[in-house]
Amino acid sequence: DAGKGGYEHYMLKEIHEQPTSLRQTLRGRADPTTGDVILEDFPSGTFEGIRRVQFVACGTSYHAGLVGSHFIGSRGLPAQTFLASEYAVSAPPVDEETLVVGVTQSGETADTLSALRRAEAGGARTLAVTNVVGSTAARECDDALFIRAGPEIGVAATKTFSSQVVSLSLLGERLVRDAVGRRSDDVQDVLSALSDLPDHVQRILDYTKAHRIAKRYYDCDSYFFIGRGSVYPVALEGALKFKEISYEHAEGFAAGELKHGPLALVTPATPVFAVFTGRHDRKTLSNVKEVEARGAPVVAVASETNEEIVQYADDVLTIPDTHPDVAGILANVQLQLLSYHAAAQLDRPIDKPRNLAKSVTVE
Ligand code: G6P
Repeated sequence: DAGKGGYEHYMLKEIHEQPTSLRQTLRGRADPTTGDVILEDFPSGTFEGIRRVQFVACGTSYHAGLVGSHFIGSRGLPAQTFLASEYAVSAPPVDEETLVVGVTQSGETADTLSALRRAEAGGARTLAVTNVVGSTAARECDDALFIRAGPEIGVAATKTFSSQVVSLSLLGERLVRDAVGRRSDDVQDVLSALSDLPDHVQRILDYTKAHRIAKRYYDCDSYFFIGRGSVYPVALEGALKFKEISYEHAEGFAAGELKHGPLALVTPATPVFAVFTGRHDRKTLSNVKEVEARGAPVVAVASETNEEIVQYADDVLTIPDTHPDVAGILANVQLQLLSYHAAAQLDRPIDKPRNLAKSVTVE
């Protein structure tokens, strides 16, 4: 219990550590005034000649990879994310102009290591983005970028996800600069939003209503999470966290896909958590109206300045105003808290959910 620092669970402690862990991840790496990204082992020009990026990862790290490939792809460098277990059996072609990035907080996940080995054998350049210096992934890859989140004990990943996404955003800016040959247009805005992130997360931790919302909805049939673009992966992560620790059925969907099938499941007993970033909000709002028409309660996760969404949602978990590509990290903190409090209501063993392990070393 001493290690929990007064919190009831490691997970809650680790959620609350995020302002500190994010400061560590960012320390010395981003200069919003000049737009410079300084990654200690990757001086300018490191990634010249890279033409495509492939992320391989599992679980929560896969969701971080999806955010990373969206970030990089939308800035002009082709990027995709693969489930490592699938990549290991049906890898796309790679060559020396392909950078394959293994996103793995532990650096020991067997599926991810297999995928990286396969990429290496195919002639790709490999990079581990990991929390553990000296891990197998860090040792075996050509290069390693450390996310510096500090040790994470809770089986459900929280602070490592946030630090992975920040690290992949910094790496993304460096990759675009080296490979495409120019800075992305909004680099200063992104770096400034990343620098504000620790304070913004603290504000969420201080003012969140997630415990009240969890109390209101913890006894429902199923829980759906929707998002579009950069927060589609956040919807997936919100659902994964929820099912991992509450043992309740939860699914994440791309907001636009709801009407192509999942809408059949929506009833007044299936709350829908809708994530907004300030980009594509109108379209997601029309998806919200579709579920409301079927009687489902809607909880929006949206900027505190977004007045329109308040009119449609039954509840809102607010996040500070920020760059749309950074908003997902803040929204995810609210969803971490929601899952935590729902699981606490249900009296689940939050730090050690049944059947799950912190690091899975078999394929
Ligand atoms: C396990 C954990 C997940 C984690 C996944 C990948 O399944 O329970 O929380 O996201 O492994 O772990 P990694 O160490 O590769 O990030």
